[in-house]
Amino acid sequence: MINEHPGLERAREEEASNLTWHDMRVTKELRRNRNGHSSFVVWLTGLSGAGKSTIASALETRLFDMGLMTYVLDGDNVRMGLNANLGFSEEDRQENIRRVAEVSRLFVDAGIVTISSFISPLDADRVKARERFGEGEFIEVFIDCPVEECMKRDPKGLYQKAIAGEIKNFTGINAPYERPQDPEITLRTDQYTVDECVDTLVAYLKDRGLIFAR
Ligand code: ADX
Repeated sequence: MINEHPGLERAREEEASNLTWHDMRVTKELRRNRNGHSSFVVWLTGLSGAGKSTIASALETRLFDMGLMTYVLDGDNVRMGLNANLGFSEEDRQENIRRVAEVSRLFVDAGIVTISSFISPLDADRVKARERFGEGEFIEVFIDCPVEECMKRDPKGLYQKAIAGEIKNFTGINAPYERPQDPEITLRTDQYTVDECVDTLVAYLKDRGLIFAR
């Protein structure tokens, strides 16, 4: 399934559902050419309070200021709209990640550098998300911070509530977080500043030829 020719997948979908895929004349490549840069998703995974949203915002600001087309998809924000009907059971998180991976794919198809920031605690769900993208389009970034430090930070007071038994299925307390097996980048946010983490990300994207200095 991984990165097979999209035509094969489409053919199967068409057969199964009586749907027909329409290739549009304006392609991802044309949009990328017009923008003057590639498009891809930077997928940030990690515990609540690890620093995902902060790094997402700082990275977007840096790339936006370089003149790139950017967008951030963020867990709390998306859960107030598109995914307002989903909770935090394993099943709902799986659906949350499936939907946001699809939305991320649409944004990448639209030629936009997409920063997707979700706890995305389960390896299987992240693997499925990656499978929706082409080679080199999915950059998995593990925002790594010990749970003890996240509990100390507790910016939304959620760890306190979870420990008091007021929140069920809280990641890191009474729901699992599976550390990524092979992320493109790991950032220890208890050891490096936000700026240093963004420097590392930007250097990586430049090294990979995904972005250029302007
Ligand atoms: S995910 O697990 O499905 O990827 P997502 O990133 O969308 O989670 O949302 C996480 C945010 O929801 C957290 O930052 C926190 O503010 C809020 N939240 C509310 N309840 C929970 C919970 N039980 N576990 C984790 N986060 C929760």
